[in-house]
Amino acid sequence: MKKINVAILGCTGLVGREFVRLLDGHPWFAIACLTASARSAGRRFAETDPPGPDGTGVAGRLVVRETNAAAVVASGARVVFSALPAAAAGPLEAELREAGLRVFSNAGAHRMDADVPLLVPEANGEHLELARRQLRRHPGFIVTNPNCVVSGLALALKPLMGLAPRAVAVTTFQAVSGGGRRGVAAWDILGNVVPFIAGEEEKVGRETRKILGAVSAAGVRPDAMEVYPSCARVAVRDGHLQSVGVEFARPVDGDAAAAALAGFLAEPQRLRLPTAPSRPIVVRPEPDRPQPRLDLRAGAAIQAGRGRPGEADRHGRAAGMAVSVGRLRPQGKRLDFFLLVHNTVRGAAGGSVLNAELAARKGLIPGVPRG
Ligand SMILES: NC(=O)c1ccc[n+]([C@@H]2O[C@H](COP(=O)([O-])OP(=O)(O)OC[C@H]3O[C@@H](n4cnc5c(N)ncnc54)[C@H](OP(=O)(O)O)[C@@H]3O)[C@@H](O)[C@H]2O)c1
Repeated sequence: MKKINVAILGCTGLVGREFVRLLDGHPWFAIACLTASARSAGRRFAETDPPGPDGTGVAGRLVVRETNAAAVVASGARVVFSALPAAAAGPLEAELREAGLRVFSNAGAHRMDADVPLLVPEANGEHLELARRQLRRHPGFIVTNPNCVVSGLALALKPLMGLAPRAVAVTTFQAVSGGGRRGVAAWDILGNVVPFIAGEEEKVGRETRKILGAVSAAGVRPDAMEVYPSCARVAVRDGHLQSVGVEFARPVDGDAAAAALAGFLAEPQRLRLPTAPSRPIVVRPEPDRPQPRLDLRAGAAIQAGRGRPGEADRHGRAAGMAVSVGRLRPQGKRLDFFLLVHNTVRGAAGGSVLNAELAARKGLIPGVPRG
């Protein structure tokens, strides 16, 4: 199979660098174009500040372009991975869709558009139907992944949907990297907890309900579940820890809930997508897990051809793609637990690459054989 040329927008940011790591040497995609702001343009990726993680790979030798639609189209890219701030991403992603490109975006700009899928492949892969609908009105499409908190939360809620959850309360302990390279000043966060992240709680509510909702003629009918988020920034480098309490219609059996979480498999695992973890949810039995330092890189790749879960992942492609869940505490109709999601991997670049892999296997990116 000839690899499909892709562009990474915002390649010098925290999410952009994860894209470069995951896409340099990807079995289906080849990096043809890297863009950033005018500050970084003109330098080889390996010479950007801090030096790119893949300085010796193909991407390291590419010259970073200033972000604009003409540069992306001229590069021959057919697929775009966007790690731009929302304000820059909104109009540009729409322009690239009109140029016939398949856009996979981390930015918030188009997440709530009626015809744009907000995708967590294991939770709502069927929402890719919306991308198919976009292709009837545009030459390309936009697919988004959710806010980094929601990427983990929606994934952990999915196997519990059969137990009829009515409401979820979530308190977050979010890493500094969630705010981007220039996000939080060291002086404000070292030795501190900031119990406010602008716009975050609103996103957690509406995005969770959209992902767990059903595709309708008008777009997506959101799930009726009540969501009560409280978001805080803590002095952790990577990894968003969340304290989750789910309320059900009936008393919940803790063993059944643990089995549903630990045994959960979905389309990305059945299709053996290159970035899919063999188990999307890892249930930790220890009394003091998950922890960002110990569990950040949870996730083992599915070995091509053999499909045996849990084997060594030579490329580290699935590391950080599993959500860790622990301290499961059933109390009547309520189930409490902690979960940890790697915010720049499953919560951003890795989630977006998995979205593209699923779209490709569903025939939405010509050139990749259907699964
Ligand atoms: N960090 C996370 O955990 C996370 C999780 C989920 C989603 N997201 C979303 O992903 C996107 C990227 O986040 P990030 O944390 O990687 O941010 P970041 O570290 O601040 O990186 C932003 C990138 O965009 C470029 N850029 C900034 N302003 C631009 C402009 N006006 N025109 C063109 N390029 C511009 C920057 O280039 P220079 O280096 O040249 O300035 C850099 O490459 C955001 O939309 C964010 O909300 C982030």
